[in-house]
Amino acid sequence: MPPRPLLFLLLIVLSSITAATPEPEPDPCAGRLIHIRRLPARFNTDLLGHCGTAFPLADHPSATPSCASLANHGLGPRTHNRTRSWYRTDERLLEPFFHRRLLDHHCLTEDPALADAVFLPYYAALDALPFVLEPAMLNYSGVHGVPLAQFLAANSPHILARRHGHDHFLLLAGPAWDYSQPPDTDPRLWGTTSLLRRPEFDNFTVLTLESRAWPWQEHAVPHPTSFHPSSLARLRSWIARARRSRRPTLMLYAGTVSKPSRPNIRGSILAECANRTADVCALVDCSGACTLDPIRYMRPMLRAKFCLQPPGDTPTRRSTFDAVVAGCVPVFFESASARTQYGWHLPAGTYDEFSVTIPKDAVVLGGVQIVETLAVVPEEEVTRMRERLLELAPRVVYRRHGSSAEEMGQDAVDIAVEGVLRRIRRRVRTLEDGRPEDLYSLDDDDHI
Ligand SMILES: *[C@@H]1O[C@H](CO)[C@@H](O)[C@H](O)[C@H]1NC(C)=O
Ligand SMILES: *[C@@H]1O[C@H](CO)[C@@H](O)[C@H](O)[C@H]1NC(C)=O
Ligand SMILES: *[C@@H]1O[C@H](CO)[C@@H](O)[C@H](O)[C@H]1NC(C)=O
Ligand SMILES: *[C@@H]1O[C@H](CO)[C@@H](O)[C@H](O)[C@H]1NC(C)=O
Repeated sequence: MPPRPLLFLLLIVLSSITAATPEPEPDPCAGRLIHIRRLPARFNTDLLGHCGTAFPLADHPSATPSCASLANHGLGPRTHNRTRSWYRTDERLLEPFFHRRLLDHHCLTEDPALADAVFLPYYAALDALPFVLEPAMLNYSGVHGVPLAQFLAANSPHILARRHGHDHFLLLAGPAWDYSQPPDTDPRLWGTTSLLRRPEFDNFTVLTLESRAWPWQEHAVPHPTSFHPSSLARLRSWIARARRSRRPTLMLYAGTVSKPSRPNIRGSILAECANRTADVCALVDCSGACTLDPIRYMRPMLRAKFCLQPPGDTPTRRSTFDAVVAGCVPVFFESASARTQYGWHLPAGTYDEFSVTIPKDAVVLGGVQIVETLAVVPEEEVTRMRERLLELAPRVVYRRHGSSAEEMGQDAVDIAVEGVLRRIRRRVRTLEDGRPEDLYSLDDDDHI
């Protein structure tokens, strides 16, 4: 037996070791557990069959085998054999891709009772195709989503009932407006369904490529580009290329180049570019299927300082995100084109750091020249905006499935899922506090 002082000392040493033992790491999945609801194949994988009949999705006319667009879980085929990062991506296939990425999520639970959020792997936009493509189905577009609602009500109904659907989310690869036709509209308007007007889905969070002006149900996520790196090295090497690229062209517009029937911002852009040389304005004719051929516009975008983003059929466009990835400073003509849409990914307060805004009325009605406005932006200012843009670019990229967030940082999917979890947490807390009437006045936290 050691003498007492030594024992005493030993006790002190032991107790200080115990005190120094760090607290157990906080559980990284606390409050973030996701349950992926198992749905019958008719709600997801069966719908991929549309690629062969309905329209050629991302399939090149000469594609063999057909349905090549489905390759790589919806990213599409690679643009060429040697690339590891570039794909012919059709944004309508974001639904299967997002599903695939959720399967990679670190905080999944088999037990819906433990889940903080429930993901519905429903390929909603693909399920809408028959209403749009088959004339006999047009009159039934008010029932888009009803079979899913019936399934959720009939099978393990407690999963849905537990939080009145407030913890459920899904991805809809399209603009929210296309799914917002009132169910009782008669005659039915072509090209849209009533999915987001179904009362059964009132409380779900739906990720869309574009949101409506006062979204309660949806939140917008970036349109996917064709760049899907699988490692940090590939992401960095592309960003370095965009950073050092020589940019002899002042501004670029990639999109439809036919003359619009009425004066609008696109018409003004085309008129301004008509008499300009290629170093002032480059036009990329994307009236065809440009998105399947990213080389056609990515090369010119790497050579341009500014990329013009006029609204098209809807306010947002994929080209905005192509420009971000290319380090080509986007020029917006209305806030609905991005600023009021993608707050989780590109916080509204940061737009002036990486983009230029020229109100469309000033151009169309006020005679403001876009070329003149952009030509006077000092070179250091352009460089500064481009740096900021390339800093933000990884946030809007959809990295390839199977790659890791630890290595590459949060991408578009990670940020969307975190946003959904925050929104659901706020709503569930409000419910648990017994303040359901406050639900509808909750703000979305559109900040980093
Ligand atoms: C790409 O690779 C595939 C399979 O290795 C090969 O069959 C095909 O010919 C290649 N295509 C080109 C354009 O090199
Ligand atoms: C939506 O949430 C509200 C408030 O929790 C609830 O009263 C309502 O029944 C829910 N709607 C559906 C369709 O579950
Ligand atoms: C769809 O409904 C309209 C009336 O709302 C009717 O005139 C039309 O014949 C219907 N079309 C089909 C294919 O049933
Ligand atoms: C472009 O040039 C043509 C012929 O030189 C001229 O008629 C037209 O007014 C010019 N358009 C603009 C927008 O300057």
